[in-house]
Amino acid sequence: MAVERTLSIIKPDAVAKNVIGKIYTRFEDAGLKIIASKLVQLSQADAEGFYAVHKARPFFADLVKFMVSGPVVIQVLEGENAVLKHRDLLGATNPKEAAAGTIRADFADSIDANAVHGSDSAENAANEIAYFFASSNVYSR
Ligand code: TYD
Repeated sequence: MAVERTLSIIKPDAVAKNVIGKIYTRFEDAGLKIIASKLVQLSQADAEGFYAVHKARPFFADLVKFMVSGPVVIQVLEGENAVLKHRDLLGATNPKEAAAGTIRADFADSIDANAVHGSDSAENAANEIAYFFASSNVYSR
């Protein structure tokens, strides 16, 4: 199986709940390495650009508003099958449908405030990583 990278964002709801460490532990326990990390307040332009693919969706404005409502923690995770592994750790988009023991089942309250973002393909992961990190700030280890 290929070693991959994926982009992960602990969203404002989970940062406000003070569960950054608990979420990082789940990544590490699953064999994913944190190879870049930063706690930042996204600007409106940052959030709109990141979610540009959803621009025409009815939830876009609320999604952007939520993503700028407080700081987020953005990380690059590396490991075997990292994209799918991370998505499996997150669970379904809607926490009410997320399997027991997943991050969204345990830490998210609603479909719009759903704790963590994860890239959905290796190709999107590469673009999302480049959106937030200069390659010189990503440390394979
Ligand atoms: P999406 O890419 O479909 O989900 P995922 O984050 O699991 O890849 O949607 C992006 C984000 O948009 C999602 O995490 C939360 C928000 N969203 C809503 O607020 N309402 C919705 O009905 C959907 C589908 C998504």
